Amino acid sequence: MNTILITGGTGFIGSHTCVVLLNAGFNLIILDSFINSSEKVLDNICELANIKDINQTQRLIVYKGDFRNKKILNLIFSDAELKNNNISCVMHFAGLKAVGESNFKPLSYWDVNVSGTINILKVMEQYKCNNFVFSSSAAVYGGLNNNPNEDSIARPENPYGETKLTVEKILRNLYFSSPNKWRIVFLRYFNPIGAHESGLLGEDFNNDATNIFPDICKVALGKKKFLKVFGNDWPTPDGTGVRDYIHVMDLADGHFQAMQYLLRNKPQVVCLNLGTGVGTSVLELIRIFEESNSCKVPYLISHRRIGDVACLIADNKLAISKLNWFPKRDLKKMCQDSWNWNKKNPNGYE
Ligand code: WQD
Repeated sequence: MNTILITGGTGFIGSHTCVVLLNAGFNLIILDSFINSSEKVLDNICELANIKDINQTQRLIVYKGDFRNKKILNLIFSDAELKNNNISCVMHFAGLKAVGESNFKPLSYWDVNVSGTINILKVMEQYKCNNFVFSSSAAVYGGLNNNPNEDSIARPENPYGETKLTVEKILRNLYFSSPNKWRIVFLRYFNPIGAHESGLLGEDFNNDATNIFPDICKVALGKKKFLKVFGNDWPTPDGTGVRDYIHVMDLADGHFQAMQYLLRNKPQVVCLNLGTGVGTSVLELIRIFEESNSCKVPYLISHRRIGDVACLIADNKLAISKLNWFPKRDLKKMCQDSWNWNKKNPNGYE
């Protein structure tokens, strides 16, 4: 049976992916520091994967720790070896991901996102685990191209995007250092939103969340008076920023299919855009959210946010052609599932 190591498995995208993998029959090992997530997520993952008791199962084993700690990584791999459950692939979700914050804490972002990933790769090499799925980001593109494909110029405009692009370069160097050994895919996410339709998993509120969707939900819940719309003078149809919003479950399915692709094919390094190919402006998003959920989201037009780009929509043709994958859920479903999660969990997991 294939055992997969998931770093950051209780985070927003990691937790939804864990449910997909468990229900596909994989055994999982989660390594998470829980600095950015709640241990309550584990109970909900178990409920959605029909695991009765997390302490009695071999389907899901959890280690609490930081992936920069080589000791814990060695413990995880050696424990798996002792149980003859060798880790066949690592899915690396853990990392720092607040674009705005990265401008003020570059050293933390370079240490966690780059040095930490090098740490994992070194331990993987030691234990002859050479299959790696990496969470990259559309932030690597910057604002040069409204509709980038994987060969488009990548020119990040913030330290967060720089760290993601740097890891991608390291992964290419690693692959070409021994081309018949490594199977590596990096997935460039666009704008993940939504929640598991059960309402058991979703995007947790945290004070430094800068993404738009947690804020839209807070305003709709009455926890904030209004949403700030960062600029209505962009070169877009209604002047507000256009993004490619993708349902977190479509993203989770994309990770599963990308891993299946790796495990079934020859060693290679692959870069894939995971987006819907559909652009939605901020004002359109607000309108669709209000219509989908029969609620109001008051907003005020504010100045542009530093580091923002006007428009970023995925050219997702390569992912669709290579993987047995297609983003199935539309924006209405994203809004409804997110609202369902937020109504059931007005204070997130706590
Ligand atoms: C979306 C749009 C804002 C907040 C970043 C990363 C990306 C991914 C998602 C990790 C923009 C506007 C936002 C608000 C607003 N993260 N906005 N009011 O910046 O597109 O992407 O997060 O992988 O890699 O780059 O996401 O949700 O912050 O912004 O008007 O309060 O909403 O200007 O047009 P972004 P976002």
